[in-house]
Amino acid sequence: MPYSVGEFVLNGPLSVTMSERHAYRASIFHCTQGAATSGDHDGHAYHADGLLVVEGGRVLALGEAGPLLKRFAGTPVTHFPDALLVPGFVDTHIHLPQSDVIASHGEQLLEWLSTYTFPAERRFADPHHAAEQVDFFLDQLLRNGTTAAMVFGSVHPQSVDRLFVAAELLGMCLVAGKVLMDRHAPAELLDTPQRAYDESRALIEQWHGRGRLRYAVTPRFAPTSSPQQLDLAGRLLREYGSVYLQTHLSESREELAWVGELFPERRSYLDVYDAHGLVGARSVFAHGIHLENAECNRLAEVGAAVAFCPSSNLFLGSGLLDLQCLESLGVTVGVGTDVGAGTSFSQLRTLADAYKVLQLQGQSLDPVHAFYLATLGGAKALHLEDQIGNLAPGKFADFCVLDLRATPLIARRLAQARSISETLFALMILGDEQVVAATYIAGICRYRNPAAGPD
Ligand code: GUN
Ligand code: ZN
Repeated sequence: MPYSVGEFVLNGPLSVTMSERHAYRASIFHCTQGAATSGDHDGHAYHADGLLVVEGGRVLALGEAGPLLKRFAGTPVTHFPDALLVPGFVDTHIHLPQSDVIASHGEQLLEWLSTYTFPAERRFADPHHAAEQVDFFLDQLLRNGTTAAMVFGSVHPQSVDRLFVAAELLGMCLVAGKVLMDRHAPAELLDTPQRAYDESRALIEQWHGRGRLRYAVTPRFAPTSSPQQLDLAGRLLREYGSVYLQTHLSESREELAWVGELFPERRSYLDVYDAHGLVGARSVFAHGIHLENAECNRLAEVGAAVAFCPSSNLFLGSGLLDLQCLESLGVTVGVGTDVGAGTSFSQLRTLADAYKVLQLQGQSLDPVHAFYLATLGGAKALHLEDQIGNLAPGKFADFCVLDLRATPLIARRLAQARSISETLFALMILGDEQVVAATYIAGICRYRNPAAGPD
């Protein structure tokens, strides 16, 4: 029996083979290279009646529909009226094994981990459970318009293996890794430094750089890895120059104090990772809420990125990320849902939380900048901006189609919108998976919202 992911993703009615030329007509928005800072309105392109031409899974052309329809006469066109086509979202921080712990009541980070998260992750020892969860997880990404993600697996290498198998079938861009954890967690979830090294190495050899898949060495966070394990993680990074590092950093005050007790010889939380060779251009640190200026400067200096996870930060009561400060110091920032501490797979809902987190600090997140963070910013955080993040010719045709009439309220509010900026803002404040009409990966429709009706 062929492997299938979700009910519609592999055989969607709009599927075309990758080599065919096909065009998509809709309003089209994307961020271009310039949109690196808050309030930069020049770094985007908007076509009220646009055409995206795709060939071989990549963008061939993008522009106004009128001239492009003439230039590409004879090319089949799928028309999405009342829709906004945008680049697929890039989720820079999410956990595969935590779909079942979303909306678990009452705890902050460390208690939440031991009460809810570790028990859920233990179940991944069962390959059938892991396989079912992988399918659910990828289906959730697609129905939320997310076409690329950086993913924490469980401590079990099979879970990551299964994730890569499924993502490869979808042609999806995924960076993932097995969690390294050799202390301060239930015995069934612990590996050892050597085992973690060997298992990570085998996964790297098998998956890193295969098609659109990449590997991230994944120590959970400093408290659950011994110095020996962190050392071996650093060794993997040295041995395989192009693999990534993903971990958590400075999320809650209680965690920060614990790290101080466990590593009294280190100047800061980031310095713990730095001392083990884990801070580099391909490092992505989730949260980074309570960083000192010296830590931000160090992140900027090496070109490391922070995954801003506002939904999770509000849900666990962890704190408010000072985005303006991080960006002004030159740190690359992407957006992470951080499911299951984050309460939604939707990047739109996550951007709504980002807006509110920043409002509480007197910062007003510009909607173009918000979409930048969730697309091109995420791509830059993963050093994949030459392949994804916007719809520039030559990039992968990873995009989603947002239904501007998805709900009566959205239709009503958008009828008042006078600019693309207003439209984007209403979508990010009011939207969620209901807004996503279709998701395409490398030019192939992998999700179609049954509620969106026929095209
Ligand atoms: N810190 C260490 N592990 C985790 C996790 O699974 N989720 C979050 N939000 N923070 C963490
Ligand atoms: Zn996390």
